[in-house]
Amino acid sequence: MAFITSKEMFERAMNSDYAIGAFNVNDMEIVQGIVDAAKEEQAPLILQVSAGAREYAKPAYLLKLVEAAMLDSGLDIVLHLDHGADFEICKKCVDDGFTSVMIDGSKYPFEENIRLTKQVVEYAHAHGVVVEAELGKLAGVGDAVSVSERDAKFTDPDQAAEFVEKTGVDSLAIAIGTSHGAYKFKGDPYLDFERLAEIEKRIPKTPLVLHGASSVLKEFVDMCNQYGGNIPGAQGVPEDMIRKAAAHHVCKVNIDTDLRLAMTAAIRKVLTENPAEFDPRKYLGPGRAAIKGMVQHKIRNVLGCSGKR
Ligand code: G3H
Ligand code: 13P
Ligand code: ZN
Repeated sequence: MAFITSKEMFERAMNSDYAIGAFNVNDMEIVQGIVDAAKEEQAPLILQVSAGAREYAKPAYLLKLVEAAMLDSGLDIVLHLDHGADFEICKKCVDDGFTSVMIDGSKYPFEENIRLTKQVVEYAHAHGVVVEAELGKLAGVGDAVSVSERDAKFTDPDQAAEFVEKTGVDSLAIAIGTSHGAYKFKGDPYLDFERLAEIEKRIPKTPLVLHGASSVLKEFVDMCNQYGGNIPGAQGVPEDMIRKAAAHHVCKVNIDTDLRLAMTAAIRKVLTENPAEFDPRKYLGPGRAAIKGMVQHKIRNVLGCSGKR
């Protein structure tokens, strides 16, 4: 077992109809729930760490937690930096032993995004680490999707080809209508599959990444609301759309919100039903179990990567 890059797992996923889940980790229970699920399903696994997670748990703790999970489970794991904002954080993670980093230059003009991504690619590749970059802007909460808005924000297939060629990046996060968080669509969910097909034609060898891919499972939203929560109108990417994207060249599907909802729903239930409880193990344990069940469901029924280790 080892920390591995995503190179080979993406090569396999590209030519198949499944994708690999990239799950955000912030604490021990989240790591354990996800890794237990991946182990039982014998699924390939990417654990990703955001700048916020590093701030919350401290980089050294997260590194050791993921290392412990790898040793305990015997699984190969890709340890990935999610949304690296600048060269420095990417360099730090490469130096710390991450096997994959994302440089997110999507907020910059095209040429600046290329320059920054190239700088990270040069450093990471020299250290055997793979790089994900992002082109296009994820939709904002409930953004309208008029044709002109799509053209302005979503990934331009021609630019994607130029970007990949000039940067040498290993995988590309694309904007086709997803967004981060629990409120992804105001009306009917919409993803631009025509654009996805076009992108895939222009960069047929580049694994694609879908951020903002949580489905905001009704079961957990309802449970949160039933036990004192207040998250009305939450809506994610329907599972059949994720399945469809996985059958394309989308190899990595980013999931954080669904983890948060599953854990919070389970904890709310325990604390509401047992107001006298104050042993954290009694509610964090069910939180961890809820994550495990949810991740197994994704691996088996949505991503289709069960047994693809
Ligand atoms: O892309 C966003 C991820 O859900 C990470 O969120 O920055 O709050 O850790 P975070
Ligand atoms: P969600 O908010 O849909 O879970 O997306 C997570 C993500 O894209 C992390 O990079
Ligand atoms: Zn993201």
